[in-house]
Amino acid sequence: MKQKIDILESKLAESKLGGGIARIASQHKKGKLTARERIEVLLDENSFEEIGALVTHRTKDFGMEDQVFYGDGVVTGYGSVDGRLIYVYSQDFTVFGGSLSETHAEKICKIMDMAMKNGAPIIGLNDSGGARIQEGVRSLGGYADIFYRNVRASGLIPQISAIMGPCAGGAVYSPAITDFIMMVENSSYMFVTGPNVVKTVTNEEVSSEELGGASTHATKSGVTHFTSPNDYACIQNIKKLISYIPQNCEDSPAKLPYELKDETRPALDTILPENANQPYDMREVISEVFDAESFMEVHKDYAENIVVGFARLGGRSIGIVANQPISLAGVLDIDSSKKAARFTRFCDCFNIPLCVLVDVPGFLPGTDQEWHGIITNGAKLLYALSEATVPRVTVITRKAYGGAYDVMNSKHIGADLNFAWPGAEIAVMGAKGASEIIFKKEISEAENPEQKLIKKEHEYAEKFATPFQAAERGFIDEVILPSQTRTKLIKAFTMLENKVDHLPKKKHGNIPL
Ligand code: HXC
Repeated sequence: MKQKIDILESKLAESKLGGGIARIASQHKKGKLTARERIEVLLDENSFEEIGALVTHRTKDFGMEDQVFYGDGVVTGYGSVDGRLIYVYSQDFTVFGGSLSETHAEKICKIMDMAMKNGAPIIGLNDSGGARIQEGVRSLGGYADIFYRNVRASGLIPQISAIMGPCAGGAVYSPAITDFIMMVENSSYMFVTGPNVVKTVTNEEVSSEELGGASTHATKSGVTHFTSPNDYACIQNIKKLISYIPQNCEDSPAKLPYELKDETRPALDTILPENANQPYDMREVISEVFDAESFMEVHKDYAENIVVGFARLGGRSIGIVANQPISLAGVLDIDSSKKAARFTRFCDCFNIPLCVLVDVPGFLPGTDQEWHGIITNGAKLLYALSEATVPRVTVITRKAYGGAYDVMNSKHIGADLNFAWPGAEIAVMGAKGASEIIFKKEISEAENPEQKLIKKEHEYAEKFATPFQAAERGFIDEVILPSQTRTKLIKAFTMLENKVDHLPKKKHGNIPL
């Protein structure tokens, strides 16, 4: 037995070394952690149980039979984060550049199947040169096996992808299907075709970083939800994100212990500028209303005219969707609608209640928006909120104009409770535009048309730019003092804790994609 144990130990030791000491040193030189070090940072101490440490590839072509590494370029298994079961795969760049072989894919699929069966999140730490070139279509098939499972797992268990090295070609589509993507600045990139192909096809000269680096995907494409300066910070971010979300679609997010005190926040009574056309930062409202330092913003640098993210309210995990007046006056456009719709759907999949903070002047006009499909894309948010069955509460802090009033979690599309601050303006359009249309004749015939317009604007604003018409009809449940917002929301979400709502039975809806 001693001899057999020695053989096992030597194989496992070899497996732990991946592609060997020199390649590990090269990984460190690039400022990157190894696949195993990443798992160590992610999981609770000594909680990792590896599966498939002795798997090897089956390729005989191109001299591959002489190059065999235990584990075949990916470390897979399960462990815990803050005591919660988590499945993980971590690609090992020291073995054939972390490239994906048939067996490498099989290992990932096995872990995904286990995660789905046992209802726990799966985290992929990606660092790979893509398809194992020596394996041809077997490798492509392996990718497709993963994509298929990503779709099966979608909405069933949370899936998080960290991109910590190259991720190119069709390989990007596994992360794209997962719920959240995190990228590491200056050491990761994602693109369907790299700079060389781009140069050949379109004659554009572009670097990898510019084409598909973390900053590009955080600001321009919105492909990544988070960026971090290094591997360590990226993994800490994953752990933080997990703390807001449950294990699976039948579980609820953990509620931290919280003792109710005086939850009045007087600063909110003076947070809005005197002039309704002046901007203010909705993040300041969020930080007053929600538990201190609890806000984790998602997609921070993309479509900044809407803010989305997780926070806690009296210890409870809440998804926030909020118009942002400091960016484009908080208008809804194509990108902000898509961003908010995707976040809304994630929260709804995983039983995370939604709080929608509204200050929206309407949809962004213009040929650019119309020609790129603001109709279809704006409808995504309308659809996502309308179909969400989680508790949904709205607070209109200032403007709620036009179609955007309907879209931003109005009572009419199924919100559970709708509050408005006393200065809220809920109307079809702004007073000036409205007066110019409905009093056109009166104004043009007046002795002093300009003065007449101002008078009519005042009249219109007094009558319609208030929350009271909406409150009279019950479209607003309560007009509240801003300082009472936190108290009202805590009570509302506590009341809605056991909400049960189901969509009509059907195969699935057809969100306008
Ligand atoms: C096999 C690979 C590999 C791959 C890298 N290696 N990529 N082996 N298949 N796809 C090996 C290298 O031969 C090398 O082995 C080691 O990994 C490290 O690679 P280096 O090139 O030395 O590292 P670096 O300079 O950091 O460059 C990394 C890289 C580059 C940018 C990823 O290796 C690269 O461009 N690789 C090819 C990428 C690619 O075209 N992949 C296919 C994409 S198409 P040694 O033994 O020397 O250490 C695709 C389709 C997926 O993925 C479709 C899914 C539907």
